[in-house]
Amino acid sequence: MQIQELQQQIDAIQIAALEAIKAASNLKELDQVRVQYLGKKGELTGLMKMIKSVPNEDKPKVGQLVNGGRTVIEEAIELAKDGLKAKELEEQLKREAVDVTLPGRTQVMGNRHVLTQIMEEIEDLFISMGYQVVDGFELETDHYNFEMMNLPQNHPARDMQDTFYINDELLLRTHTSPVQARMMEQHDFTKGPLKMISPGRVFRRDDDDATHSHQFHQVEGLVVAKDISLADLKGTLDLFAKSLFGAERETRLRPSYFPFTEPSVEVDVSCFKCGGKGCNVCKHTGWIEILGCGLVHPNVLEMAGVDHTVYSGFAFGIGADRIAMLKYGIDDIRHLYQNDVRFLEQF
Ligand code: DAH
Repeated sequence: MQIQELQQQIDAIQIAALEAIKAASNLKELDQVRVQYLGKKGELTGLMKMIKSVPNEDKPKVGQLVNGGRTVIEEAIELAKDGLKAKELEEQLKREAVDVTLPGRTQVMGNRHVLTQIMEEIEDLFISMGYQVVDGFELETDHYNFEMMNLPQNHPARDMQDTFYINDELLLRTHTSPVQARMMEQHDFTKGPLKMISPGRVFRRDDDDATHSHQFHQVEGLVVAKDISLADLKGTLDLFAKSLFGAERETRLRPSYFPFTEPSVEVDVSCFKCGGKGCNVCKHTGWIEILGCGLVHPNVLEMAGVDHTVYSGFAFGIGADRIAMLKYGIDDIRHLYQNDVRFLEQF
């Protein structure tokens, strides 16, 4: 082939390549163009192979021409590559751009169950008075749930607490009081007084209705030390009532009966709705019963290994469901267990 002819071919390839480079709209297409012209089987590479068939003296010239064409195409590709890269980056940025003016997605906020809130409020109050908070067992023994609470077999007061028995010895605790006995047994009274509350779930074989639930919540309280009197109990529960129902509230003690306390009392708080004048909340008495309590019965102390001639104590049992219902005017205890979000959201 004549040198001149070769030059023409190279020019033609070059023009076609430059057109193709210009037409490539992305990096992939551009690479295809590179392969088509400069690759192993590319058009320019094909021309280079012809070098074998030209006379020796022409070989340098042929090499120079083909390589010259190659360089032009390579440079054009590099240039186009830079342009396409910039274009793709710009597109990517556009795609991924965040519109900070768009309104945010609002999160639905959960909140703690109204009973949890009441229990935590009670816990916080007693913690601030130096009480420890302890967990008990929901699955208890007859021994701790009844015997140690001065309720021996066949004691009539057992009937007050209809019980889910698992077998002869195991049951679902009917009250949080057994935690008292467990704690007194463990406590080292030479190191100081025992002050504890124990919040938790309790169970009774009741048919559920507006005021009964087979499962509800109590907070047990116990203080045992030297010289504990009814006055200490009254002072403590007065503070409790004021803290939960308002500083203007007053409390009164009414004699009552529990097997594990002597004397036993029930505590009423002056009605927070009518202030004592009488309304439907206090059933027109001006007072609302909020809990049972008393001085720990000597038998209970003795059975737990505490010398009742040296130590005395008071105990109380708060019905957390009842407190929540009173405080928020909830008229049906089942609302607390049905988990209707429309109800729960209000607290
Ligand atoms: N355990 C009692 C109940 O469930 C509540 C109670 C009353 C607890 C008086 C006490 C107490 O500690 O002193 O009915």
